[in-house]
Amino acid sequence: MTLANKKVVLGITGGIAAYKCPEIVRRLKDLQCDVRVVMTAGAKEFITPLTLQAVSGNPVSDSLLDPAAEASMGHIELAKWADLVVIAPASADVIAKINAGMANDLLTTICLATSAPIAIAPAMNQQMYAAKATQRNLACLEQMGMYIWGPASGEQACGDVGKGRLLEPMEIVERVTNHFAAPSLDLNILITAGPTREAIDPVRYISNHSSGKMGFAIAQAAKQLGANVTLIAGPVSLTTPNGVNRLDVVSASDMHKQAIIHAPTHDIFIACAAVADYRPAAISDQKIKKNDDDMVVSMIKNPDILADVSALEEQRPFCVGFAAETQDVETYARGKLQRKKLDMIAANNVSIAGQGFNSDSNALTLYWPQGKLDLPLADKQELAKQLVVEIIKHYNQAQ
Ligand code: C5P
Repeated sequence: MTLANKKVVLGITGGIAAYKCPEIVRRLKDLQCDVRVVMTAGAKEFITPLTLQAVSGNPVSDSLLDPAAEASMGHIELAKWADLVVIAPASADVIAKINAGMANDLLTTICLATSAPIAIAPAMNQQMYAAKATQRNLACLEQMGMYIWGPASGEQACGDVGKGRLLEPMEIVERVTNHFAAPSLDLNILITAGPTREAIDPVRYISNHSSGKMGFAIAQAAKQLGANVTLIAGPVSLTTPNGVNRLDVVSASDMHKQAIIHAPTHDIFIACAAVADYRPAAISDQKIKKNDDDMVVSMIKNPDILADVSALEEQRPFCVGFAAETQDVETYARGKLQRKKLDMIAANNVSIAGQGFNSDSNALTLYWPQGKLDLPLADKQELAKQLVVEIIKHYNQAQ
């Protein structure tokens, strides 16, 4: 593997692990990668710019306000130059600043100004890493589409033992290589995600607890694997993964309409949304008053989006459904696979705490007519990656 013609900005922040950076740069240079180093003020307390200049063969940038440095390669030029920005080690401070959208030094400014993917390799004391604020910031960065590389566990410079060590230089180089090796798939993938809302009157609706996290994680994984992704999202408060084309809908009927319009131009359809099965038969024009002691809302069945896409006679995509079950998972999942004439179904047992609805992790079993595969408990991002890889494998076999 060569990284010839690949341009990487390596951002170094203040942390003892900065001593590993010359090795990262050297190994990237071995692969013919063009590396430009950006250091924060804190980084320079741990390692000298001269060392990084010597190993990278390029001037090191460290100031937003230095006219001489700006004249050689300004911050916007540097942000545009990069094919990938890697921040290693990334301190808790820089992670918080990037999440807040701050731009008060050269590195954070580049992060805002670049359209290149950004990879964050955290390194800090295990307690700082585990802190709720750091975890929240990292989760937000991941949702924005940034890669989070590591950290590793083990003994720390401060004497603590735990999660927070910078990945080893070769692991970081391997991730850079994998990033550039990711195939550009000539695949269009359509995904539904989140709940739907079924209006009762102008201020009330019927819905469910779906957070949309699994569907958004699948969209992000599919995009990172090189697919073109369209995400039909019900009402959720999640950030659109980088590069994903998002269509917002509210009700099952809206979602159905968009899915039927877009399915024929997509190779794979993954129905991850928790679509309301019924909707009020009539939506009151005015807010319903609480005059009576009881109230009856008459409901009618919503269209089955997945079954209708799967029944398309022309340009039918490869169809993957989800089955959230509380018992007899395999029986019910296989029943849906057959009834909706699907190519695959991903089933999970939502009665187990910490899995499925509104949780950050999940475990799935994939069923297809001739087989099955367990994807064990993992965070939704990791699980989504494994799921999309399996779906693409089966899609390719079906061609
Ligand atoms: O029949 P059930 O709702 O359990 O099936 C779940 C699967 O069907 C999920 O993939 C879900 O996204 C999809 N579905 C749909 N439209 C509906 C109901 C479910 O696309 N109206």
